[in-house]
Amino acid sequence: MDWGLKNRIARIISPADNKALMLAVDHGYFLGPTEKLEDLKKTIAPLAKHCDSLMITRGALRTSVNPDYPVPVVLRVSGGTSIIGEDLSQEDITVSIKDALRLNVAAVAMSVFVGSKYEYQTIVNLGKLVSEAEEYGIPVLAVTAVGKEIGTKDARYLSLACRVAAEQGAHIVKTYYCENFEKVVKSCPVPIIIAGGKKIPEKDALKLTYDALKAGAVGVDMGRNIWQSDNPVAMIKAVHSIVHGTNNVEQAFTLYKQLSGKPNQKSNNNKPNQKSNNNKPNNKPKKRN
Ligand code: 5RP
Repeated sequence: MDWGLKNRIARIISPADNKALMLAVDHGYFLGPTEKLEDLKKTIAPLAKHCDSLMITRGALRTSVNPDYPVPVVLRVSGGTSIIGEDLSQEDITVSIKDALRLNVAAVAMSVFVGSKYEYQTIVNLGKLVSEAEEYGIPVLAVTAVGKEIGTKDARYLSLACRVAAEQGAHIVKTYYCENFEKVVKSCPVPIIIAGGKKIPEKDALKLTYDALKAGAVGVDMGRNIWQSDNPVAMIKAVHSIVHGTNNVEQAFTLYKQLSGKPNQKSNNNKPNQKSNNNKPNNKPKKRN
Protein backbone atom coordinates (compact mmCIF):
# COMPACT_ATOMS: atom_id res chain seq x y z
CA MET A 1 0.00 0.00 0.00
CA ASP A 2 1.19 3.49 -0.82
CA TRP A 3 2.83 5.24 2.16
CA GLY A 4 0.47 8.22 2.10
CA LEU A 5 -2.60 6.01 1.98
CA LYS A 6 -1.30 3.89 4.85
CA ASN A 7 -0.39 6.94 6.88
CA ARG A 8 -3.83 8.47 6.39
CA ILE A 9 -5.60 5.26 7.40
CA ALA A 10 -3.42 5.17 10.52
CA ARG A 11 -4.85 8.58 11.46
CA ILE A 12 -8.34 7.09 11.44
CA ILE A 13 -7.77 3.54 12.71
CA SER A 14 -5.15 3.60 15.45
CA PRO A 15 -2.28 1.21 14.63
CA ALA A 16 -1.80 0.75 18.40
CA ASP A 17 -4.97 -1.31 18.77
CA ASN A 18 -6.53 -1.34 15.29
CA LYS A 19 -9.56 0.56 16.63
CA ALA A 20 -11.29 3.78 15.64
CA LEU A 21 -13.52 6.33 17.31
CA MET A 22 -14.96 8.74 14.77
CA LEU A 23 -17.23 11.59 15.75
CA ALA A 24 -19.94 12.08 13.11
CA VAL A 25 -21.15 15.64 12.65
CA ASP A 26 -22.04 15.54 8.95
CA HIS A 27 -25.81 15.18 9.39
CA GLY A 28 -26.61 18.70 8.22
CA TYR A 29 -25.68 17.81 4.64
CA PHE A 30 -29.18 16.44 4.14
CA LEU A 31 -30.97 17.03 7.48
CA GLY A 32 -30.16 20.71 7.91
CA PRO A 33 -29.80 21.95 11.51
CA THR A 34 -30.30 18.64 13.28
CA GLU A 35 -31.18 18.93 16.96
CA LYS A 36 -28.12 19.64 19.15
CA LEU A 37 -26.06 20.20 16.01
CA GLU A 38 -27.58 23.59 15.25
CA ASP A 39 -24.45 25.34 16.51
CA LEU A 40 -21.63 23.30 15.01
CA LYS A 41 -18.82 25.07 16.85
CA LYS A 42 -20.47 24.66 20.22
CA THR A 43 -21.13 20.95 19.63
CA ILE A 44 -17.78 20.03 18.13
CA ALA A 45 -15.34 22.02 20.31
CA PRO A 46 -15.64 20.06 23.58
CA LEU A 47 -15.77 16.67 21.80
CA ALA A 48 -13.03 16.89 19.16
CA LYS A 49 -10.18 16.07 21.52
CA HIS A 50 -11.83 12.81 22.56
CA CYS A 51 -12.20 11.28 19.09
CA ASP A 52 -9.67 9.92 16.62
CA SER A 53 -11.27 11.64 13.65
CA LEU A 54 -14.14 13.87 12.66
CA MET A 55 -16.66 12.96 9.95
CA ILE A 56 -17.73 16.31 8.57
CA THR A 57 -18.61 18.29 5.44
CA ARG A 58 -16.32 20.93 3.96
CA GLY A 59 -18.64 23.81 4.82
CA ALA A 60 -18.87 22.75 8.45
CA LEU A 61 -15.12 22.17 8.62
CA ARG A 62 -14.18 25.57 7.21
CA THR A 63 -16.63 27.50 9.34
CA SER A 64 -16.66 25.59 12.58
CA VAL A 65 -13.41 23.76 13.25
CA ASN A 66 -10.24 25.55 14.29
CA PRO A 67 -7.55 24.70 11.71
CA ASP A 68 -4.91 24.95 14.45
CA TYR A 69 -6.42 21.91 16.11
CA PRO A 70 -5.01 18.84 14.38
CA VAL A 71 -8.01 16.50 14.39
CA PRO A 72 -7.93 14.10 11.41
CA VAL A 73 -10.79 14.76 9.04
CA VAL A 74 -12.95 12.28 7.16
CA LEU A 75 -14.57 14.56 4.65
CA ARG A 76 -18.04 13.78 3.37
CA VAL A 77 -17.92 14.43 -0.36
CA SER A 78 -21.35 13.18 -1.41
CA GLY A 79 -24.70 14.91 -1.31
CA GLY A 80 -27.29 16.50 -3.53
CA THR A 81 -30.56 15.74 -1.79
CA SER A 82 -32.26 16.95 1.36
CA ILE A 83 -34.80 15.47 3.71
CA ILE A 84 -37.61 17.35 1.93
CA GLY A 85 -36.44 16.42 -1.57
CA GLU A 86 -37.65 13.76 -3.96
CA ASP A 87 -35.34 10.86 -3.24
CA LEU A 88 -32.56 10.73 -0.67
CA SER A 89 -30.65 8.12 -2.62
CA GLN A 90 -29.94 10.41 -5.57
CA GLU A 91 -26.52 11.51 -4.38
CA ASP A 92 -23.54 12.62 -6.39
CA ILE A 93 -19.98 13.61 -5.61
CA THR A 94 -20.06 17.27 -4.58
CA VAL A 95 -16.45 17.97 -3.56
CA SER A 96 -13.34 17.71 -5.72
CA ILE A 97 -10.26 15.78 -4.68
CA LYS A 98 -8.32 19.05 -5.05
CA ASP A 99 -10.46 20.63 -2.38
CA ALA A 100 -10.13 17.57 -0.17
CA LEU A 101 -6.34 17.88 -0.51
CA ARG A 102 -6.51 21.58 0.31
CA LEU A 103 -8.38 20.65 3.47
CA ASN A 104 -5.64 18.15 4.35
CA VAL A 105 -8.11 15.31 4.88
CA ALA A 106 -7.31 11.87 6.24
CA ALA A 107 -10.04 10.32 4.05
CA VAL A 108 -13.04 11.13 1.92
CA ALA A 109 -16.46 9.57 2.50
CA MET A 110 -19.52 9.02 0.40
CA SER A 111 -22.80 7.10 0.66
CA VAL A 112 -23.82 4.19 -1.52
CA PHE A 113 -27.49 3.32 -1.80
CA VAL A 114 -27.47 -0.37 -2.67
CA GLY A 115 -30.89 -1.55 -3.82
CA SER A 116 -32.23 1.96 -4.39
CA LYS A 117 -33.41 3.52 -7.62
CA TYR A 118 -30.03 5.26 -7.79
CA GLU A 119 -27.78 2.38 -6.80
CA TYR A 120 -26.02 2.37 -10.19
CA GLN A 121 -25.14 6.04 -9.92
CA THR A 122 -23.84 5.83 -6.38
CA ILE A 123 -21.87 2.61 -6.90
CA VAL A 124 -20.24 3.92 -10.08
CA ASN A 125 -19.46 7.16 -8.26
CA LEU A 126 -17.76 5.16 -5.52
CA GLY A 127 -15.56 3.38 -8.05
CA LYS A 128 -14.63 6.68 -9.69
CA LEU A 129 -13.93 8.33 -6.35
CA VAL A 130 -11.63 5.48 -5.31
CA SER A 131 -9.70 5.75 -8.60
CA GLU A 132 -9.29 9.50 -8.22
CA ALA A 133 -8.53 9.51 -4.48
CA GLU A 134 -5.96 6.71 -4.76
CA GLU A 135 -3.94 8.85 -7.18
CA TYR A 136 -3.20 11.07 -4.20
CA GLY A 137 -3.06 8.41 -1.52
CA ILE A 138 -6.41 9.35 -0.02
CA PRO A 139 -8.49 6.51 1.42
CA VAL A 140 -12.21 6.31 0.76
CA LEU A 141 -14.78 5.44 3.37
CA ALA A 142 -18.04 4.12 1.90
CA VAL A 143 -21.20 4.63 3.91
CA THR A 144 -23.86 2.00 3.28
CA ALA A 145 -27.08 3.98 3.53
CA VAL A 146 -30.22 2.28 4.78
CA GLY A 147 -33.78 3.47 4.62
CA LYS A 148 -37.35 2.35 4.19
CA GLU A 149 -37.19 2.12 0.43
CA ILE A 150 -33.65 0.74 0.26
CA GLY A 151 -32.73 -2.12 2.52
CA THR A 152 -33.36 -3.38 6.00
CA LYS A 153 -30.79 -3.48 8.74
CA ASP A 154 -30.17 -7.21 8.58
CA ALA A 155 -27.06 -9.26 7.97
CA ARG A 156 -28.17 -10.31 4.50
CA TYR A 157 -28.66 -6.79 3.17
CA LEU A 158 -25.75 -5.22 5.03
CA SER A 159 -23.36 -8.00 3.91
CA LEU A 160 -24.37 -7.31 0.34
CA ALA A 161 -24.01 -3.53 0.66
CA CYS A 162 -20.65 -3.72 2.48
CA ARG A 163 -19.25 -6.24 0.06
CA VAL A 164 -20.34 -4.23 -2.97
CA ALA A 165 -18.63 -1.15 -1.50
CA ALA A 166 -15.44 -3.08 -0.71
CA GLU A 167 -15.35 -4.60 -4.19
CA GLN A 168 -15.39 -1.10 -5.66
CA GLY A 169 -12.23 -0.42 -3.68
CA ALA A 170 -13.50 1.35 -0.56
CA HIS A 171 -10.75 1.22 2.07
CA ILE A 172 -13.14 1.36 5.03
CA VAL A 173 -16.88 0.69 5.12
CA LYS A 174 -19.31 2.29 7.50
CA THR A 175 -22.51 0.41 8.11
CA TYR A 176 -25.05 -0.40 10.82
CA TYR A 177 -24.91 -3.01 13.52
CA CYS A 178 -27.40 -5.87 13.18
CA GLU A 179 -28.05 -9.36 14.45
CA ASN A 180 -25.40 -11.83 13.19
CA PHE A 181 -23.07 -8.92 12.53
CA GLU A 182 -20.13 -11.36 12.46
CA LYS A 183 -21.44 -12.47 9.06
CA VAL A 184 -21.24 -8.92 7.73
CA VAL A 185 -17.68 -8.51 9.04
CA LYS A 186 -16.55 -11.91 7.76
CA SER A 187 -17.63 -11.28 4.19
CA CYS A 188 -16.21 -7.78 3.98
CA PRO A 189 -12.48 -7.70 3.17
CA VAL A 190 -11.91 -4.19 4.55
CA PRO A 191 -12.37 -2.74 8.06
CA ILE A 192 -15.92 -2.01 9.14
CA ILE A 193 -17.02 0.88 11.34
CA ILE A 194 -20.57 1.17 12.61
CA ALA A 195 -22.77 4.26 12.72
CA GLY A 196 -24.62 4.93 15.95
CA GLY A 197 -28.02 5.63 14.39
CA LYS A 198 -30.92 7.35 16.08
CA LYS A 199 -30.63 8.46 19.69
CA ILE A 200 -31.20 5.61 22.11
CA PRO A 201 -30.57 5.45 25.86
CA GLU A 202 -26.89 5.82 26.72
CA LYS A 203 -26.52 2.31 28.07
CA ASP A 204 -28.03 0.87 24.89
CA ALA A 205 -25.63 2.92 22.75
CA LEU A 206 -22.73 1.62 24.83
CA LYS A 207 -24.01 -1.92 24.36
CA LEU A 208 -24.24 -1.32 20.61
CA THR A 209 -20.61 -0.19 20.64
CA TYR A 210 -19.49 -3.17 22.72
CA ASP A 211 -21.41 -5.74 20.66
CA ALA A 212 -20.22 -4.32 17.34
CA LEU A 213 -16.60 -4.40 18.40
CA LYS A 214 -16.98 -7.89 19.80
CA ALA A 215 -18.41 -8.99 16.44
CA GLY A 216 -15.39 -7.60 14.61
CA ALA A 217 -16.05 -3.94 13.82
CA VAL A 218 -12.91 -1.83 14.19
CA GLY A 219 -14.86 1.01 15.72
CA VAL A 220 -17.73 3.43 15.65
CA ASP A 221 -18.59 6.58 13.79
CA MET A 222 -21.05 7.96 16.30
CA GLY A 223 -23.01 11.18 16.14
CA ARG A 224 -26.46 11.55 17.69
CA ASN A 225 -25.83 9.13 20.52
CA ILE A 226 -22.97 11.36 21.60
CA TRP A 227 -24.04 14.95 20.98
CA GLN A 228 -27.74 14.37 21.68
CA SER A 229 -26.83 12.82 25.02
CA ASP A 230 -27.50 14.93 28.11
CA ASN A 231 -23.75 14.73 28.74
CA PRO A 232 -21.91 14.53 25.42
CA VAL A 233 -18.39 14.65 26.88
CA ALA A 234 -19.20 11.94 29.43
CA MET A 235 -20.73 9.86 26.65
CA ILE A 236 -17.81 10.13 24.25
CA LYS A 237 -15.43 9.24 27.07
CA ALA A 238 -17.55 6.21 27.92
CA VAL A 239 -17.60 5.12 24.26
CA HIS A 240 -13.83 5.67 24.16
CA SER A 241 -13.41 3.43 27.20
CA ILE A 242 -14.92 0.55 25.20
CA VAL A 243 -13.33 1.27 21.83
CA HIS A 244 -9.79 1.94 23.03
CA GLY A 245 -10.02 0.54 26.53
CA THR A 246 -11.15 -2.63 28.17
CA ASN A 247 -14.46 -1.51 29.65
CA ASN A 248 -17.53 -3.66 29.24
CA VAL A 249 -21.01 -2.14 29.00
CA GLU A 250 -21.58 -1.93 32.78
CA GLN A 251 -18.19 -0.36 33.39
CA ALA A 252 -18.62 2.14 30.57
CA PHE A 253 -22.10 3.07 31.78
CA THR A 254 -20.81 3.51 35.33
CA LEU A 255 -18.11 5.79 33.93
CA TYR A 256 -20.74 7.75 32.01
CA LYS A 257 -22.81 8.23 35.16
CA GLN A 258 -19.79 9.22 37.24
CA LEU A 259 -18.64 11.75 34.66
CA SER A 260 -22.20 13.09 34.41
CA GLY A 261 -22.32 13.55 38.16
CA LYS A 262 -25.24 11.11 38.42
CA PRO A 263 -23.70 7.92 39.82
CA ASN A 264 -27.08 6.52 40.89
CA GLN A 265 -28.89 7.07 37.61
CA LYS A 266 -30.65 3.94 36.28
CA SER A 267 -30.39 3.14 32.59
CA ASN A 268 -34.16 3.05 32.07
CA ASN A 269 -34.50 6.58 33.48
CA ASN A 270 -32.32 7.73 30.70
CA LYS A 271 -34.93 8.03 27.97
CA PRO A 272 -33.93 8.70 24.38
CA ASN A 273 -34.35 12.21 23.18
CA GLN A 274 -37.88 12.28 21.81
CA LYS A 275 -37.17 15.21 19.55
CA SER A 276 -34.38 13.59 17.54
CA ASN A 277 -34.48 14.65 13.92
CA ASN A 278 -37.47 16.84 14.60
CA ASN A 279 -36.63 18.89 11.56
CA LYS A 280 -38.26 16.30 9.34
CA PRO A 281 -41.51 17.58 7.89
CA ASN A 282 -44.55 15.51 8.85
CA ASN A 283 -45.79 15.05 5.34
CA LYS A 284 -42.65 13.24 4.25
CA PRO A 285 -42.64 9.68 5.56
CA LYS A 286 -39.36 8.64 3.95
CA LYS A 287 -36.35 8.53 6.18
CA ARG A 288 -32.83 7.37 6.60
CA ASN A 289 -31.47 6.08 9.83
C1 5RP B 1 -25.14 10.85 8.15
C2 5RP B 1 -24.03 9.93 8.44
C3 5RP B 1 -23.53 9.89 9.84
O1 5RP B 1 -22.17 10.18 9.80
C4 5RP B 1 -23.76 8.53 10.44
O2 5RP B 1 -25.10 8.16 10.35
C5 5RP B 1 -23.28 8.47 11.89
O3 5RP B 1 -24.05 9.27 12.70
P1 5RP B 1 -25.11 8.69 13.73
O4 5RP B 1 -24.32 7.96 14.78
O5 5RP B 1 -25.84 9.88 14.28
O6 5RP B 1 -26.00 7.73 12.97
O7 5RP B 1 -23.50 9.26 7.60
O8 5RP B 1 -25.66 10.53 6.92
